[in-house]
Parts: sequence; structure tokens; C-alpha cells
Amino acid sequence: MFKLDRKLVSMTGIVIAGVALSLSSAVAATSENAATESLYKSKAGAIDGGVTYPRENGSYTAYKYNTQSTKGVNFARPATPNEIKAWDIDALPDGSGLPEGEGSVGLGDELYEAQCAVCHGDFGAGGQGYPQLTGGNQEKDENGVIITLKNQRVYGNTDAPKRSIGTYWPVATTLFTYIRDAMPYAHPKSLTNDEVYAITAYLLAQDEIIENDDDNVLNKEKLAKVVLPNRDGFYPNIDGPNAAEDIRAFFADRAKNIGAGTRCMTDCKDPGGQDGKTPAGVVEIKYEMKDVVPPYAYAKDLPPKKDTGLAHPGKEAYESNCKVCHKTDTMGAPAVGNKSAWEDTLKKGIDKVYENTINGIGGMPPKGGTSLPDDKIKEIVDYMIEASK
Ligand code: HEC
Ligand code: HEC
Repeated sequence: MFKLDRKLVSMTGIVIAGVALSLSSAVAATSENAATESLYKSKAGAIDGGVTYPRENGSYTAYKYNTQSTKGVNFARPATPNEIKAWDIDALPDGSGLPEGEGSVGLGDELYEAQCAVCHGDFGAGGQGYPQLTGGNQEKDENGVIITLKNQRVYGNTDAPKRSIGTYWPVATTLFTYIRDAMPYAHPKSLTNDEVYAITAYLLAQDEIIENDDDNVLNKEKLAKVVLPNRDGFYPNIDGPNAAEDIRAFFADRAKNIGAGTRCMTDCKDPGGQDGKTPAGVVEIKYEMKDVVPPYAYAKDLPPKKDTGLAHPGKEAYESNCKVCHKTDTMGAPAVGNKSAWEDTLKKGIDKVYENTINGIGGMPPKGGTSLPDDKIKEIVDYMIEASK
């Protein structure tokens, strides 16, 4: 406000006492403002083009300010109930926070086929470098024990279980929120709650964590009761009435619980005790992890390309069919806009590149998972190359 009035003062030469214009001075203010407005608007060369903004008392200002608050510091405003609702999306292990709704295994099957299988494989089996969702808890060791995280700790030499819902997820309610908020990869939050219940049911049914019957319907109450096979296999146990003590006890005995000095093979820190800081027996990795592929969601967008006027005929089809994987290189696909990646790709010759795109190569499904005619695919490839020059 102070700055605002100063500007008014300097523009008109009229001294206005006080910070806010009170009602009694409104009449005078209106004519002063008319003068200000025309004076300001006539300044076509003003850096912002002479834009003025109305204020609630009919006057104008050259500064935009928050019209929702007239008192105090105008940095922010209280969040609205709807905004708070949009943030308050977690679901706890006991099911609180889960929305109403329901979906059957059968519907989940259809939805999964249509929206998830292209990346996560049939029945959640994984493949092409995308996470496996099911099946990880099916492996048994020589004693017939399902290999889970816990068993890996008990039988130290067994291989770690494959990451899947049945092994690496302690709590089933997280599956609902994860799918709802993050999947399908390219269109998160596009599924309805009913659809998410259906897909969650389908995935749980694949490992027979719930009954694998098309008519089996999952809802909030039922999901809260699902116990994942490896629920108690995670250390420390962060749930339950003794959670805090469990966690403290776990970290108190670091030598036993965090590592006995055998895990780290190269670039390890002092094996413990010798530097006087690390408890004996603890080995930590010395260097920060390299070559980590950041999740798609963290990748920053490149600055927008200059608009060359006419849209390329392949552009639209690219956006709807291929961008999901080709926007960044996080999936190993040549990213559109990355000049050198496409120069490398084109070394094999354009005909080979067309052929690979049509028949599929590595993580690239044939025709990108579409059934577009070959000519259209070629047109899209031309666009991708063009947009990466
Ligand atoms: C375009 C490819 C793609 C599609 C389509 C897709 N996902 Fe994913 N999904 C991914 C990738 C990549 C990750 C790993 C993300 C990460 O780790 O940040 C992932 C992770 C997941 C995970 C977590 C796996 C784990 O154990 O960490 C679940 C569950 C999942 N997706 C479910 C689904 C469901 C359900 C659908 C369909 C509604 C779907 N996804 C569609 C690519 C895809
Ligand atoms: C599910 C993810 C996915 C989708 C969808 C997808 N791509 Fe790809 N694409 C890839 C990956 C991964 C590669 C790298 C494959 C490799 O070299 O192993 C690739 C490679 C390519 C290449 C280079 C081929 C070569 O010879 O090296 C072209 C061209 C291409 N994609 C075009 C397309 C077009 C056109 C579409 C849409 C119609 C599409 N892609 C959709 C994942 C995808």
C-alpha cells in the first residue's frame, strides 16, 4: 500500500495523507484517480504498457495487489476448504482417509489391460524395464518358505525378493493412493475412485491376496482389512502401539540391525569403530549414489521450443501416443528435443529407425503400442526428428 500511494503521489503531485483511502475521501479520490488514470494511460511508453488495475473503491492503481485481503501483509491468504481437501489425500493403514467407492476384479482386469499392461506387462508381470507388480512373493526357498524381506534377513544368503506389491509393500491402502495419485504414468489422477478400487482389486487378486474372482468387489472397508504377505517383514515395524519403542530399539542396536559389515563391497567407509564415530560393525557406503534415474515427475521441462508457425502433421499424434515415453529420456527412449540422442539414433539410417518403430525395439513397443498405419508412424517419427534439431 505504501508503495502504491507513493506512486500515486508522484504521478499526480497530490499529497494523500494516510495509507488507505477512507470512504469520506472517496469523492475526492475518484477525481484524483481519474486524473491519475488518464495520466498513466497516456504514458504509452510505461514499462508495463500503462496497465491499471481497479480497486474496490472505484479508484485505480498501477500496481496489482491481492484483492482478497485489504488488511495486514498481502503475501498470502488462508487456504480455502477445497484447497485443504486437495492436499489432504493420504490414507492410513487402518483405512481412514480412503474414499467411498467400489470396483470388481473383473472391471479391474479390463482397465488394467487398457491402461497399464502396455508398461507393466500382462497380469502385472513386468517387462520392458517397467516395474513388475505381481508375482514377487511366489518364490520359495529350499525350505519351502516364501522369500520375503523378513526371510531374507533370517536366511542371510537368499537373494532379495523381487520388488512387487506382494513383497515390497507393507500396507495395502498405499496401493490405492499410489495408483490414484501417480498412475497411469502419463495421466495421473485420471481414474475415478471406483476404477482405482477395481484395479487395486485386480492386482491383489493376481497374487491371491484377495480372492481371484471377477465378481469380487473391493471397497474401503475390505481394503483396510487386507494384510499384505510381508507386512511384518519390514524393520523396524513402524505401525502399531509400540512403534516408537520398536524404532528406537532398532536404531539403538545398529551393529545388529543395520549391517554386520558384509553388505558393502566397494567404496565403503571405515568398517566401524575405527574412526571413533561409526559404531563397530557398521559399514556405510562412502560415496553418494550415481547414475540414479530420477522419477519422471522430477524431470524439469525444457524451455518451450520456438513456434515455427504451422504445426507439423505428426505433432498431434505424437502428443497423444508417444510423448508419454519420449518427453524425457528417463525410460531410455530418445527424448524429443535432445539433439544428440536423435543424431545417435539416426546413425543407423532413417529406414532402420522407421522399421524399429514399427516392429518395436527394446522398451519400445511395436508402433508405440498403437495400431496407427505405417505411414502415420513414419510421419510422427519425422516430427520427432524435426522437433529435435
Ligand atoms: C507409460 C508407462 C506406464 C503406464 C501406462 C503405467 N505405469 Fe505404473 N509405473 C511406471 C513406471 C515408470 C513406474 C516406476 C515409477 C517410479 O518408480 O517413480 C511405475 C510404478 C508403478 C507402481 C509401483 C511399483 C512399485 O512397486 O514401486 C504401481 C503399483 C503402478 N505403477 C501401477 C500402475 C497402474 C495400476 C497403471 C494403470 C492404471 C499403471 N501403473 C500404468 C510406468 C507406467
Ligand atoms: C511405452 C513407452 C514408449 C512409447 C509409448 C513409445 N516409445 Fe518409442 N521408444 C521407447 C523406448 C524405451 C525406446 C528406446 C528403445 C531402445 O533403443 O532400446 C524408443 C525408441 C524409439 C525410436 C528410435 C528407434 C531406433 O531405431 O532407435 C523411435 C523413432 C520411436 N521410439 C518412435 C516412437 C513413436 C512414433 C511412438 C508413438 C507412436 C513411440 N515411439 C511410443 C519407448 C516408447
